[in-house]
Amino acid sequence: MELNIAVIKGDGIGPEITDEALKALNAVAAAFGHTFNYSEALMGGCAIDATGVPLPDETVEVCKKSHAVLLGAVGGFKWEHLPGHLRPEKGLLGIRSALGLYANLRPATLHKALVDACPLKPEIAGEGFNILIVRELTGGIYFGKRGRDGDTAFDTETYSVAEIERVGRVAFELARKRDKRLCSVDKANVLETSRLWREVMRGLRVEYADVEYGDMFADNAAMQLVRDPRRFDVIVTSNMFGDILSDEAGMLTGSIGMLPSASLGTGTLGLYEPIHGSAPDIAGLNKANPIAAILSAAMLLRNSAGLEKEAAAIENAVGAALNEGYRTSDIWSEGYELIGTREMGDCVSANIAG
Ligand code: IPM
Ligand code: MG
Repeated sequence: MELNIAVIKGDGIGPEITDEALKALNAVAAAFGHTFNYSEALMGGCAIDATGVPLPDETVEVCKKSHAVLLGAVGGFKWEHLPGHLRPEKGLLGIRSALGLYANLRPATLHKALVDACPLKPEIAGEGFNILIVRELTGGIYFGKRGRDGDTAFDTETYSVAEIERVGRVAFELARKRDKRLCSVDKANVLETSRLWREVMRGLRVEYADVEYGDMFADNAAMQLVRDPRRFDVIVTSNMFGDILSDEAGMLTGSIGMLPSASLGTGTLGLYEPIHGSAPDIAGLNKANPIAAILSAAMLLRNSAGLEKEAAAIENAVGAALNEGYRTSDIWSEGYELIGTREMGDCVSANIAG
C-alpha cells in the first residue's frame, strides 16, 4: 500500500520523538512491503519564526492532501509572551478544527512491565488497566467566545446537540468493540452545556442497549480514576474535561510519555500525536520518551489506513522493548536499563517484524 503522510515535527522535543516514530514506520514499510511518502510541514513556534503565523495555509493544504498527519508537539518558552491568537498552541487548535477532527481517542493502557512505574499501589494497579478516553476536540470552551472587558476576562462554553451526538456515537461504537462499558463525564450539577450533554448521551443509549452506560461528574471521575481505574472502559467527555482527565490517566500508565492519540473526523483523514507537550526543558538532550509518538504512528496505520497487522506489530514491538528492560528516564526505576530517545526508537524498530 502507498500512503501519503504529512509530518509536522513542531517544537521542543517534537522533532526528536517524531524521528523515532518515522523510524518505526520505515521498519513497518520494509517488513510489510508498503511505501510511505512523507511531506514535512511547519506548525507552532517554528512556523511563527519562519512565516509569522502558527498555522500557515500551506500546512493545512499539505494535511488535506494527505491520508494522515503525524504530529510531534508545539510550544515553548520562546513564544509565551505572544498574544493568544499568535501562540503556537493556536496552530494546534487551528489544524484540529480545519480538518474537522472532532473525536480524540486517547488510550491509557498500563503495560504489565510498567506496573513499577505506575504511581498507584500495586493492589490498585493490579494486572494493569486499559481505558479509552474519547475527548470532544473541536468545540466547548476551547473554541467559545473569549476576551477581556476592562479588568474582567471571560471564556464561554457552547455545545450543540449535533456536536455532542457525533462524538457520543463514536464513543458508543468504540465501547461496542471493547468491554461494552461507557461512562460519560460532565458537570451537569453546575453547567448548562453539561445538562445538554447528559440529555443527548442518555438519548443515544437507547440505540446502544448492548453497551452498559453510566454518567459521572468530572470531579468524581478524577477521583475514581486513581481509586479504581479498572472500573472504566470507555470514557466520553468534553474538550476541557478530556484534556485534564487524559493527563491524569497518562500518569497512571507510568508516564505521560506513554500516551498516543488519534484525532478523527467523518472521513479517514486523521491526525496522530502524543498527548504530552513539547517539553522545551529537555529538548535536544536525547532524553524524551518517544513511545507516545511511536504508538501514535500505530494508531495512524490502524485508523487512517486499516493496517491492523502493521499497527499491532508496532504495539507489540513497544511491549517487547519494555519487556527487555529498556526504559527512558521518565519510566526508569532501579534494576532497569536507562536509555535515550534514539536508543528506545532503535529497540522498538528492531522488534518490528512482518
Ligand atoms: C493536548 C494539549 C493541548 C490541548 C494544548 C497544547 C493546546 O494539552 O493535546 O492535550 O489542550 O488540547
Ligand atoms: Mg493536554
